[in-house]
Amino acid sequence: MGGMSLHTAHKIIFGDSRRMDEVEDESIHLMVTSPPYPMIEMWDSQFRSLDERIDRLWERMEVEEEGKERIAGEIYDLMHENLAQVWREVYRVLVDGGLACINIGDATRSIGGVFRLFPNHSRVIEYCEGIGFITLPYILWKKPTTKPMYKGKGAFLGSGMLPPNAYVTLDCEFILIFRKGSPRPFKPHDPMRYRSRYSKEERDRWFTQIWDIVGVKQSLSEVERRAAAFPEEIPRRLIRMFSIIGDTVLDPFLGTGTTTKIAIEEGRNSIGYEIDRRFRDIIERRIYADRSIPDTGYSLEFIERSM
Ligand SMILES: C[S@@+](CC[C@H](N)C(=O)[O-])C[C@H]1O[C@@H](n2cnc3c(N)ncnc32)[C@H](O)[C@@H]1O
Repeated sequence: MGGMSLHTAHKIIFGDSRRMDEVEDESIHLMVTSPPYPMIEMWDSQFRSLDERIDRLWERMEVEEEGKERIAGEIYDLMHENLAQVWREVYRVLVDGGLACINIGDATRSIGGVFRLFPNHSRVIEYCEGIGFITLPYILWKKPTTKPMYKGKGAFLGSGMLPPNAYVTLDCEFILIFRKGSPRPFKPHDPMRYRSRYSKEERDRWFTQIWDIVGVKQSLSEVERRAAAFPEEIPRRLIRMFSIIGDTVLDPFLGTGTTTKIAIEEGRNSIGYEIDRRFRDIIERRIYADRSIPDTGYSLEFIERSM
């Protein structure tokens, strides 16, 4: 951003993004987010508290001997239905030609002793297409390697090198990219658009399907791990690829505030939603401690929505 003195405005709303009444229709240029991942254990309790149908099914699944897999399937559907309420709101608030980037990983899990994949990325694509989004080519984020899996235990157990019952490791997450309507129109030589350009070297590295982004795990604090924070490089690339300086970026699942922090640094306005108020302190500390953010030139407002 060197030498740029553009005033940007940032809002963080503590509330449920399944309704974003604070955001006007067609007022957002880019959405960047990472939702809770359905069927990943760390998010079970949050989905249960968001939707009592999920909670009731879960209780049934735990006690019933038969039909656990069918109930798990219903839970999985409902989790995606909850996320889709947010995707619908995102569609409403995006401008024509606005883009939506969703970082999501698939889940593997044993239900009633049967190991299987829950392909979250394909569910999100189906829901978003149903809402009216156009699907664009997506990115595979190759994460620092986790151990190969066997029966969900996190390592090859027992089988050694013997075929055929080992499973492929999930070492990629998806960054799905959608657009509302046709590409955004710009006047020739739009000065903000030109000021926002990336270099040829950045283009060659960013517009490729596999992103090998490493070296974040060690630096993560306890809270960032609890929130499954994404590395700053992810929103930074997406914001620079798919928005221009002065645009407004939305993150409906803000967590530790990574998207807000990077929007400030990159001269974009932003709105973030987070349902868990415990994140307020960490978000404030993170943004105010950031030395690459000028302390003039932006405003940051916290809004506590009553439930
Ligand atoms: C995977 S984390 C996001 C992490 C974030 N990208 C970061 O860098 O810290 C998902 C977040 O969404 C929040 N969340 C889940 N459901 C929500 C909802 N309906 N409205 C608002 N926030 C929600 C969770 O509390 C959690 O902090």
